[in-house]
Amino acid sequence: MPEAVSRRTVMRLLGAAGVVTGAAGCGAPLPDAGPGTRAAPAEEAGRAGPPATRPAGPGSEARVAALLEKLTLDEKIGLLHGARDPAPLGQAGYVPGVPRLGIPDLRLADGPAGVRVTARATALPAPVLLASAFDPGLAREYGRVIGREGRALGQDVLLSPMVNLIRTPYAGRNFETFSEDPKLTADLVAEVVRGIQEEGLVATVKHYALNNQEQGRTTVDVVASEQTLHETELRGFESAVAAGCGSVMGAYNKVNGTWACENRQLLEEQLRTRWGFTGWVVSDWDATHGTAALTAGLDMEMPGGTHFGAGLRKAVADGTVPVTALDRSVRRILTTLDRFGLLDGKPPARPARDAAAGARTARKVAVAGAVLLRNVRGTLPLAGPAARGLAVIGPTGGVPFVSGGGSAHVVPDRADGPLTALRARAARAAKDAKVTYALGEDLYGRPLRAAALSPAPALDDRRVAAGRTWTYEGVLTLPADDEWTLLVHYTGRRPAVALDGKEVFSAQPGVPEHFAGGLLGTAPDGLTVRRRTLRLTKGAHRLRLTAQGGAAGQRFRLRHTSGATRAADLDAAVRTARAAHSVVLFAYEDATEGRDRTTLALPGGQQRLVEAVTAANPRTTVVLNTSSSTTMPWLAATGAVLQMYYPGQEGAAATAAVLFGDEDPGGRLTQTFPTADGVHPVAGDPVRYPGVGGRQEYTEGIHVGHRWYDAQRVVPLFPFGHGLSYTTFRYEDLRLLPGPGGLRVEFTVRNTGKRRGTEVAQVYVGPSPDLRLDQALRVLAGYHRLTLAPGRARRVAVTVEPRTLSSWDPARHAWVLGTGSRTVYVGRSSRELPLRATTVVREAPDR
Ligand code: BGC
Repeated sequence: MPEAVSRRTVMRLLGAAGVVTGAAGCGAPLPDAGPGTRAAPAEEAGRAGPPATRPAGPGSEARVAALLEKLTLDEKIGLLHGARDPAPLGQAGYVPGVPRLGIPDLRLADGPAGVRVTARATALPAPVLLASAFDPGLAREYGRVIGREGRALGQDVLLSPMVNLIRTPYAGRNFETFSEDPKLTADLVAEVVRGIQEEGLVATVKHYALNNQEQGRTTVDVVASEQTLHETELRGFESAVAAGCGSVMGAYNKVNGTWACENRQLLEEQLRTRWGFTGWVVSDWDATHGTAALTAGLDMEMPGGTHFGAGLRKAVADGTVPVTALDRSVRRILTTLDRFGLLDGKPPARPARDAAAGARTARKVAVAGAVLLRNVRGTLPLAGPAARGLAVIGPTGGVPFVSGGGSAHVVPDRADGPLTALRARAARAAKDAKVTYALGEDLYGRPLRAAALSPAPALDDRRVAAGRTWTYEGVLTLPADDEWTLLVHYTGRRPAVALDGKEVFSAQPGVPEHFAGGLLGTAPDGLTVRRRTLRLTKGAHRLRLTAQGGAAGQRFRLRHTSGATRAADLDAAVRTARAAHSVVLFAYEDATEGRDRTTLALPGGQQRLVEAVTAANPRTTVVLNTSSSTTMPWLAATGAVLQMYYPGQEGAAATAAVLFGDEDPGGRLTQTFPTADGVHPVAGDPVRYPGVGGRQEYTEGIHVGHRWYDAQRVVPLFPFGHGLSYTTFRYEDLRLLPGPGGLRVEFTVRNTGKRRGTEVAQVYVGPSPDLRLDQALRVLAGYHRLTLAPGRARRVAVTVEPRTLSSWDPARHAWVLGTGSRTVYVGRSSRELPLRATTVVREAPDR
């Protein structure tokens, strides 16, 4: 039987792996051989990973069985879906408990970059920035901050981490997830889960599975072969399960023809039977399609009981859903709660928030993940005249760009704009330091001049009392034919605005508030922002505006930009750049859940801004606060480019520290940056992305991310793993020590520069000649992050676990080891691999 064969093989492989031996050079402690040495995934080990709190056992079984006996049918059904929270804290979901039996209420909060509730929390850097550090230990610390804060802020379940792979550079949520690489993702998600759960919060890994884009996410049928599924997207989920993750969130989309939330193959066969998952599966918000989902493996519908409320009661009554299926789901939920000590009658005490510790971790992660993409002519670090005469340019140079929008948006404790941080840092460098600023692009608009309005009431920061309606009817006189952008900033219900009888803004909220947030959608003082660009002629236009105070009163502003203001902003930026010794230009790209990008270019007028500023001053560093890869036709004109993604509430100070060289940029790309729209793994075939007729096929197979660039021999703009340090490193003396089933890779990394610096040494492995399966030219097999003083060297050992040397064989429905001659590559990115050697991989002998 194939399954039996595969299990035996896997157990043999396991026997050979996971042991680190030997000593490191330079008297350093033996380097961590990488995450390959951590607990084997559940499928290999044949059990779920270590519970975060206490073991499920006979005691737990008996406690849960006793509760099941006492619960009424209605009480059971109540535990299987969300409800309105009588005392909401701003979290995404709520499940009322059963107080008479000591079953507590559950509050479920987003999110991946910090706890998303009404109250302030630590806004951590986006997960993609965390991932860029290639540091599982840091991922654990990140998880612990969110776990503790979640408990402190009254939450029980965290709807995080998101583990879907970065498959398409356009995907709106790429900042919320880790990487295009399955192994790196798997390593990091395990540690984030452990961190969250060590603090007593239940982690929910999401969105299971193949939710790799936002376009059509609630309807698309994603088709992927068995081998592709296992070698790409499933690795992260498997790893989260092995780490003991309490909950899994089913995705919106279909997987191979069946809704993810009612996909028996995914939920029962894969998740529970193969991986041994013992927790509960919750739907994504409104992703449940019927009561049949319960029998297929979904346990909890969110956010309400559309199907798992009255519908489920009826289905149980008419026998469509057996009571045993209902009991099974309740048992899974209660068993998990018991594991977290939540069924004891007196739930564990909630800790106080430690905002200072959260801020420290936020800064540490932002520095560790900062990716220096380019640095020529000694542009960075800023020192000497560059530090004394600096121009900061760009809207996000002034306003802090803390996090992306959607359900990952966090209300930060605090946040400075980069200008403040850079001024403070420059003043420390030199008393006479001068830091000037130019907006470059106006995101929030200017007030309409009173002279342009007749009558001329102030339309900037107007307040309408609760229950009142305020209407303005008048004439707006424009000085020129131009492209005018009108912006409304508001609280509550959006004011209706019409120009010459045509609606510009309707009173209906166009975008669900759930997706609000982010840079463009929210003014620095928190008001919601909407904008509309129109070609308007010179002269008088009838303006009508109606604002409603609603229950809480309303604030609003009507603002504008035009071709003329845009040109003036550009000119001012160029003048400011020219007058300074060097420039730091902050560029943004505002991503959010619910929509994909349509281009990889910088949005708005930013491309023109970068071109004009770099032409005026070539000592320009572009800092990218973007969500994923960006095309850079302007790259050659820059002095440096620093990728900071969404750097969290401490992002400004972290960015300043890296720019001034207080910290070495320690991050490396966890996704490949393409040279252009149309030259990346999902380009050129609409079936691949975004899908045709509601169906999408992963025809690139196992070649996700860098594997595709290698297979197609496409030169990227920046390869996976790329990132510069302020010092230089040399790789020396590669030795391969094959053990049965696995590999130990040893080499020396030497700091050949003049500064202390951080390197992420990377190990890749080529295909096996013995497998008749599609294989990547190189897979990431391990990595090791290390910091070295100038002139120092360290011997590094990386263990390559059998899983990395294996492929998924769809004929056997199992992992098979890629035996025979395998080439191992070592270096500092997927395309800069100076060391190479070959060894023979053999199966471990039968015991
Ligand atoms: C998102 C989830 C999120 C949920 C609750 C959904 O739209 O896809 O990631 O956890 O909303 O906010």
